[in-house]
Amino acid sequence: MLIAQKSEELTPGGCVIVPTMGGLHTGHLELVRRGVEAARSRDLPGGCVVSVFVNPTQFDEAYDYERYPRMVEQDAAMCAGVGADAVFAPSVETVYPTPQSRRDPVMPQVAYEPGLEDAARRGHFAGVCLVCQRLFELTDARAAVFGEKDWQQLQSVTAMVRMLRSPTEIIAAPTERDPDGLAMSSRNRFLNDEDRARGLALSRGLVAAGGEATPGAGETALRRVLDVAGVIPDYAAIREASTLMPPPEGAAIGDVTWRAVVAGRVGSVRLLDNMPWPLGTDADSGSQG
Ligand code: PAF
Repeated sequence: MLIAQKSEELTPGGCVIVPTMGGLHTGHLELVRRGVEAARSRDLPGGCVVSVFVNPTQFDEAYDYERYPRMVEQDAAMCAGVGADAVFAPSVETVYPTPQSRRDPVMPQVAYEPGLEDAARRGHFAGVCLVCQRLFELTDARAAVFGEKDWQQLQSVTAMVRMLRSPTEIIAAPTERDPDGLAMSSRNRFLNDEDRARGLALSRGLVAAGGEATPGAGETALRRVLDVAGVIPDYAAIREASTLMPPPEGAAIGDVTWRAVVAGRVGSVRLLDNMPWPLGTDADSGSQG
């Protein structure tokens, strides 16, 4: 398995990138499998490249940045196991060679307007849009795989490539879950048993919301489950799925594609999750580019 630190070390001619910050788990491997499949079906010489880069511009807390797991050799072995062609692990200087390269990313409205992740983590999506633009350029990415777990990120990157008229197609991959429903995340390793059990309130609340007849009743059901578990949400909302805004006044429920989204801190870990609303109406998986 090639571990490249510079773009010149990658095979030229285009690839499918799976952007990650490392600390890979089973959920990531599903993204990598999709990347491998997409690279083979597009016959791209660069194959599937997994980027492992802990991006300093998207962290709002220095502590979170510092403790983010860094284990590139182990990550590379996992990627090799599912057929990836290379791991791209650039330095901060390679991604951001000048102070200017850290500024002014193209940002779609969904990255700053909905008042969800954007409000809870100011500046986060500016950092995500910036690093994705840089990683797509550096790897000559013709397609990129993103997990649905970070729903606002997926919508932001999808809208960003449209704004940029970028040749990078965005491929969405469904959320991987533990058998009890907890969405997989690199941060789950910091949950103790008690907090992990409380964290289940996110997925259970989303399931409860998904059985209600109106978005208002769904939000109430979601909040009730969080409340019982003692989880104070940063947000718990049911919105239009791609803009993440409340739909226009008077819009009929059936005319809107909805998504229920939730985030909150459990112990020292911030968890987020989302599901289609009502449940069973997921038409969003697959290519979004
Ligand atoms: O989802 C992540 O792990 C990160 O936000 C990403 C897309 C790799 C950008 O740093």
